[in-house]
Amino acid sequence: MKKRQFIKDVLLTTLAAPIGLTGLAQTFKENAYLPAKELAKVEDFWLSIRNQYLLKPDYINLENGYYNFLPQPILEKYIEHIRQVNYQGSYYMRTVQWDNKDKVAARLAKLGGCSAEEMIITRNTTESIDLVVSGFDWQKGDEAVMAIQDYGSMLDMFEQVKNRYGIVNVKVSIPNHPANDEEIVAIYENAITSKTKLMMVCHMINITGQILPIKKICAMAHAKGVQVLVDGAHAFAHFQYSIDDLGCDYYAASLHKWLSSPLGAGILYINKNRIKNLWPLLADGEKQLDKIKRLNHIGTHPVATDLAINDSIDYYEMIGAERKEARMYFLQNYWTSKVRNLPRVIINTPAESSRSCGIANIGIEGITPGDLANRLMKEHKVFTVAIDGAEVFGCRICPNVYTTIEELDTFVLAIKKLSNNV
Ligand SMILES: Cc1ncc(COP(=O)(O)O)c(C=O)c1O
Repeated sequence: MKKRQFIKDVLLTTLAAPIGLTGLAQTFKENAYLPAKELAKVEDFWLSIRNQYLLKPDYINLENGYYNFLPQPILEKYIEHIRQVNYQGSYYMRTVQWDNKDKVAARLAKLGGCSAEEMIITRNTTESIDLVVSGFDWQKGDEAVMAIQDYGSMLDMFEQVKNRYGIVNVKVSIPNHPANDEEIVAIYENAITSKTKLMMVCHMINITGQILPIKKICAMAHAKGVQVLVDGAHAFAHFQYSIDDLGCDYYAASLHKWLSSPLGAGILYINKNRIKNLWPLLADGEKQLDKIKRLNHIGTHPVATDLAINDSIDYYEMIGAERKEARMYFLQNYWTSKVRNLPRVIINTPAESSRSCGIANIGIEGITPGDLANRLMKEHKVFTVAIDGAEVFGCRICPNVYTTIEELDTFVLAIKKLSNNV
């Protein structure tokens, strides 16, 4: 088989028959005229998406943030890819695996809003961020800025780099309810000194769902000569933005979160001017310093995952980025607006649509986060995760596009009962 033909067969089958669309065609046609914000409320439309998920009946899953498991059409495609790679064996690995990976990376670049020469596929946000943090050209005494609300293992990596190279880590704290963007920008700005080289900023803080004003933070940091590494683990394919527009130096995300790719898929964007200065995590044969592939060596890995990313993009584009964002915000706002002002209830997430989307965090006075999560599960069959630290005390609530209003009503009633508001 000719190389080109093989690539087409293995990789692009889904483009000929867009994934999952057969069963959904009529529903999409009937609702095509509706603006995204209106469609977000049309339960029948979202039920047609829900039907594509195999859901455990034991509980209501409001913890989709860790792993946004696959709807059945993507799962089937993934299994097909595993079979196909297993069938082709070394032939696949020696002929087209890299061409296929490049094509998927180029699609991810387009989706993220950057050039293909600046985007690589990694295994997750951890690999992407650790590559930048460990590969940065640190000198003793250099300073890095981050927040206590950042993800733990990223902070661990900065700690390791501190011990290894003698850098200084400066940690800020982000308020759960900032007055405006300028307050956040000022918090980061005040942490910068003449020795600051790199700043890590979450696009969406994972424990609260708060979205930070990345573009403004980047503009401020660059004016002071500081590079910005954005942790977009929870932002990619959740709400809309363009990496080029944000103006950051590095952008990392996991695709097994909101893109619903199989476990072990992530991205790393590196601005073309920054590529040459990074050390790779694992050394590669590419010696040209400004080639991003030099930083992408991981050895033999599960290539079927790379192929399934392509199907996840098809699925995401079938729903539509604007529609997904509108649905996610609608779901969050639906339940938070019903409990936000109740006595004893504390919502740790801003209400504005510019500062939040699908994720929010709720605490109840007098109940520890751990007890709240346990009681939600035991007494109400609602699965969440407890957050108890970094000035955030409550449960993180992550619905997904398939979550129903009925499920959120059950959750709201549970909160009212647990906070003695019924
Ligand atoms: C903000 C943030 N960064 C990084 C990560 C790590 O993601 P992964 O385990 O996919 O590398 C997570 C995981 O939840 C996260 O929420």
